[in-house]
Amino acid sequence: MNYDKDLICENITVDAEGKLLFAGQDTTELARIYETPVYLMDEDYIRKQCRAFKKALEDSFGEDCMVLYASKAASFIKIYEIIAEEGLGTDVVSCGEICTAKKAAFPMEKAFFHSNNKTDRDIAYAMDNGVGYFVTDNEEELFAIEKEASKRGIKQKILLRITPGIDPHTFKAVRTGCVDSKFGSAIETGQAEEITKKALDCEHVELMGFHCHIGSQIEETEIYVRTAEIMLDFIADIRRKTGYETKVLDLGGGFFARYTSEQPVRTPWDYLPNLGEYINASIERLGIPKPMVCIEPGRSIVAEAGMTLYTVGTIKKIPGYKNYVSVDGGMPDNIRFALYGSPYTILPANKMNDISETMTADVVGRCCESGDIIQPNVELPSSMKRGDILACLSTGAYHYSMANNYNRIPRPPVVMLQAGRAYVAVRRETEKDICALDI
Ligand code: LLP
Repeated sequence: MNYDKDLICENITVDAEGKLLFAGQDTTELARIYETPVYLMDEDYIRKQCRAFKKALEDSFGEDCMVLYASKAASFIKIYEIIAEEGLGTDVVSCGEICTAKKAAFPMEKAFFHSNNKTDRDIAYAMDNGVGYFVTDNEEELFAIEKEASKRGIKQKILLRITPGIDPHTFKAVRTGCVDSKFGSAIETGQAEEITKKALDCEHVELMGFHCHIGSQIEETEIYVRTAEIMLDFIADIRRKTGYETKVLDLGGGFFARYTSEQPVRTPWDYLPNLGEYINASIERLGIPKPMVCIEPGRSIVAEAGMTLYTVGTIKKIPGYKNYVSVDGGMPDNIRFALYGSPYTILPANKMNDISETMTADVVGRCCESGDIIQPNVELPSSMKRGDILACLSTGAYHYSMANNYNRIPRPPVVMLQAGRAYVAVRRETEKDICALDI
């Protein structure tokens, strides 16, 4: 079996003995030291992606712009430290993410607080922790923010989340920019204009501008231009009607990351220069002041920085039907196939040069549930046996952050790889942790 094409990112290589290397380090050795399942994260790749987004955005829009890392993709203290060092802002969606960012001493004035349903407690917590911007979803929330800000005698900066009505043709479950979305206020229904006028009347709210997010895993780069067109027309229309000049335009995240070799490679340069050219030209045409442009990449910064290692357990061959390779993880550490049918590349980390016959197998987890599948129909050496190591690629985004304790299985640790060294950023959960909250 030749896996060359499956080494989908430059941080994945194979040594002479057929061991899979990640960020230059022997994954079988990492599995031995840290045990499995384990999430590996390539710190250098994360930093490289941060710099690439920052440079491409600045080259396209000038200095007045900001890359916000969408921390829902992977949220733990070390990642906020890295993001802060790289000069990015962040998008946070809960008190838990705010608390984690604070623990990393993240500059909270560069934190943008999202979510379609901020409770009064969330709003108070975010204000007390100095969150810079509230991305306000709806009218009720606007008034709740006004009330909390007024209690504190402050003027809270906000953006309004607008629904531009774009269908980016991705998975339905991660499609969030359409008019019938649970997120934001739609332009089409007039609710976007209404909420803008109400925000301008709020004494304790400073309307800084508008936000939209059209979906995730967006392969088609032109969709961002189409989104910008709708948003800029809206901004120009609001200016005509109210005189309000938009200071910030946040176009959200959704940039593509690679999970398999069939998928295309996308870099920030595939999206941003086009977008910059379009926005700069449109601003002139519409006669509106240039806003600060923000983007919110999550997945594209961390997905390919991640890899999960598992140890193979039971191998079940059902003649005439199916083969199963079971691993010591599953839907608690990777629920994405179960939820979205997401594709993955799975490699035999200790057998990359195995040229024996292959078999096709479903790689499945250890939960008491048939839907606990990491990936169906994976081509693996037929010599696979208990104790072999499997690597699931591109697991840096929405894996640790979506990990759960189904079947009371403890969550894996996050081990960071940086310039040839490895260190634990999040320790392995234990059975003691699992019982720690029970009274
Ligand atoms: N900004 C907002 C407002 C968002 O809702 C999201 C993602 C992002 C930015 C970042 O999008 P990204 O660049 O990561 O695509 N759990 C799903 C993904 C849900 C994305 C939700 N919002 C998954 O595992 O694929």
